[in-house]
Amino acid sequence: MGEEAAGVVANNKPFRRPLLLVLLLAVLVGSCCAAAQDEGINSKGAGGRRRRRTSRRRTSAAAAAAAPLMVPITILKSAVDAGAVCMDGTPPAYHFDPGSGAGNNSWIVNLEGGGWCNNVRACQFRKTSRRGSSDLMEKELPFGGIMSSSPTDNPDFYNWNRVKIRYCDGASFAGEGFDKENGFYFRGQRIWDATVRHLLSIGMSSADKVLLTGCSAGGLAVILHCDEFQAFFQPTTTVKCHADAGLFLDAVDVSGGRSLRSYYSDIVAMQGVAPNLPPACTARLDTTSCFFPQNVIDGIKTPIFLLNAAYDVWQIQESLAPNGADPSGAWRACKSNRSACDTSQMMILQDFREQMVATVRGFSGSRSNGLFINSCFAHCQSELPATWSNAAGGSPAIQNKGIAKSVGDWYFGRAEAKAIDCPYACDGTCRHII
Ligand SMILES: *[C@@H]1O[C@H](CO)[C@@H](O)[C@H](O)[C@H]1NC(C)=O
Ligand SMILES: *[C@@H]1O[C@H](CO)[C@@H](O)[C@H](O)[C@H]1NC(C)=O
Repeated sequence: MGEEAAGVVANNKPFRRPLLLVLLLAVLVGSCCAAAQDEGINSKGAGGRRRRRTSRRRTSAAAAAAAPLMVPITILKSAVDAGAVCMDGTPPAYHFDPGSGAGNNSWIVNLEGGGWCNNVRACQFRKTSRRGSSDLMEKELPFGGIMSSSPTDNPDFYNWNRVKIRYCDGASFAGEGFDKENGFYFRGQRIWDATVRHLLSIGMSSADKVLLTGCSAGGLAVILHCDEFQAFFQPTTTVKCHADAGLFLDAVDVSGGRSLRSYYSDIVAMQGVAPNLPPACTARLDTTSCFFPQNVIDGIKTPIFLLNAAYDVWQIQESLAPNGADPSGAWRACKSNRSACDTSQMMILQDFREQMVATVRGFSGSRSNGLFINSCFAHCQSELPATWSNAAGGSPAIQNKGIAKSVGDWYFGRAEAKAIDCPYACDGTCRHII
């Protein structure tokens, strides 16, 4: 997939943008959110259809372009003793590319995303996929964007130790329980704990800089676990967190209900998430509310950067206008093609953006936090060269500052990085995926 993307970028100027967008859609829908699309609130899947068409057309070009770094999997068998297992009882896993040079003592820990499961049917499906079993995971993964080893694509983090922890629990690394009848292990919190402890034992404990990152369900996991991550380190370690597309809003859907809230409520109940939610939140709110970032972000003590598209495509499709809330299909076209949205639909989308902006108002008052809310139709922007790197042809930018630069400026304290874009369609730098 990544190789094809590189080929497309390098080889076909006239087709570059449409093909790139199609690829972004395919990669994002395929890698971050496929599980949610298969099992979630909505089951539309345009990404797969388009992906097939694209890959047929571009296969030969792929070989010519620079291949992305493929990083092999490590199965963490020792974690099983601590009960840290994937949904089907197999050991958890991670991918590790060692740092070098000046990055030798710095670490990025990336929590993989990919939806959730909220009922027996959905969890059964998940358990027999790469999202629920390390037996079924890819044996290697491409590291791109913030995980890239290329100094051009990723100037601030390319030489750090970079780790991707695979997601195989179904509740953003936060569940605890066992469903004996169905044989579901809900051990997200144990996977988080055992894997981070393992990384500490292989060198991370003496790190001078660390960054916890993740996208989508992984971005939510970052928000939930950020302060716990900080607590693993000595005060001499700089610890920060970065959540990409993790700002899932407790929004009213187009039928006046709260689809995502009821979905989250089921996840929290089924997977025993409550004890692992941030205590500052559960002390004052119900547990489902504490699975929503808006009720957690103001209480996070560790510096954290929130990167999110204001028109988060996953949220439009699965939270704002899921099929269940749109029985007449009035949103079907708009949901997969922003140009097909009528005036009243666009007003609802603008209102969604305003809710997101309002959600981060208190958060942005903290000096140590960072923010990049751009007015693009996207979901996950930090792990692909085209949306992360200036070198790949210009990442989305706000006031001429791109995403990689903003996150780097914030991490290293080079400059303040708190940017909120003007409303759609003012931003010509977007990589829209619908
Ligand atoms: C960093 O480099 C030193 C030697 O220069 C080596 O002993 C150490 O293991 C390296 N650390 C990591 C995390 O790779
Ligand atoms: C998106 O919608 C516009 C306006 O309805 C239409 O002209 C265009 O063909 C659509 N694009 C796709 C890819 O369906």
